[in-house]
Amino acid sequence: MTTTPLRTIITGASSGLGAEMARQLAARGHDVALTARRTDRLESLRDEITAAHPGRRVVVRALDVTDHDQVFAVTREATAELGGLDRFVVNAGLGKGTPLGTGRFDANRETAMTNFVGALAQIEAAMEVFREQRQGHLVVVSSISALRGMRRAMTTYAASKAGVASLAEGVRSEVIARPELDIDVTTLYPGYIRSEMNEHVEQEQKMMVDTETGVRAMVEAIEARKVKAYVPTWPWLPIGTAMRALPLSVVRRMV
Ligand SMILES: NC(=O)c1ccc[n+]([C@@H]2O[C@H](COP(=O)([O-])OP(=O)(O)OC[C@H]3O[C@@H](n4cnc5c(N)ncnc54)[C@H](OP(=O)(O)O)[C@@H]3O)[C@@H](O)[C@H]2O)c1
Repeated sequence: MTTTPLRTIITGASSGLGAEMARQLAARGHDVALTARRTDRLESLRDEITAAHPGRRVVVRALDVTDHDQVFAVTREATAELGGLDRFVVNAGLGKGTPLGTGRFDANRETAMTNFVGALAQIEAAMEVFREQRQGHLVVVSSISALRGMRRAMTTYAASKAGVASLAEGVRSEVIARPELDIDVTTLYPGYIRSEMNEHVEQEQKMMVDTETGVRAMVEAIEARKVKAYVPTWPWLPIGTAMRALPLSVVRRMV
């Protein structure tokens, strides 16, 4: 349990990793703003969290991260309602995709717009608040698949996640040289964690962990304000390290 409640906005909080991060952060004593498109899910989660932790403040806001004006407006509104903003978790994401050149530009574009341009809007909105306050913690949910180019249905998804990690590192590269800005940046690289995104995926079962276990590793890395974390550490730290070094002919058979 922490003693200082931090005020955190989480995008994509209606299911999977985002919903579980909200549960676990609230259990650690933090106040949360839950955002996503499915507000019925957010309202149920708010009721669940406030029943379990009556002292916690839980704000709910409808947000489609591809509506960029809404990203800025919701960030400002949720920040005001929370009474300030200590942390923003860029989590909303989409796993749609097809091999490039197979006639489904629409699916690949939707993934890129949600995971990359949507994340860019969220980082811009969060950083506006953090620059003004001169403090904050930016958390970006990338993916192990960001470490290398991925084949077939994963190509655009992996590229979008590499782009998001690069945005986070770019922000960090600025703020580490600005002592007047007390801003930390954490990039999470989850491996396979059970969620709606992969509920029908069979071949990854061996390395898949349940949502609570996977998110516990994410929340520990967030709370420790790690610069980057492959989560869960086992088996993803050795796999991630190997992925960066091995030739593509080997990497393409690993994940
Ligand atoms: N699970 C894994 O193994 C894994 C591994 C690596 C990375 N990740 C990343 O973890 C993040 C969470 O994914 P998940 O696994 O928890 O999948 P999920 O259960 O499908 O959750 C995705 C969340 O993103 C939200 N979302 C999707 N499109 C959105 C949009 N246009 N605007 C606002 N919210 C949107 C969804 O909410 P609404 O539909 O209600 O809007 C939902 O809350 C994603 O960024 C994903 O890429 C997951």
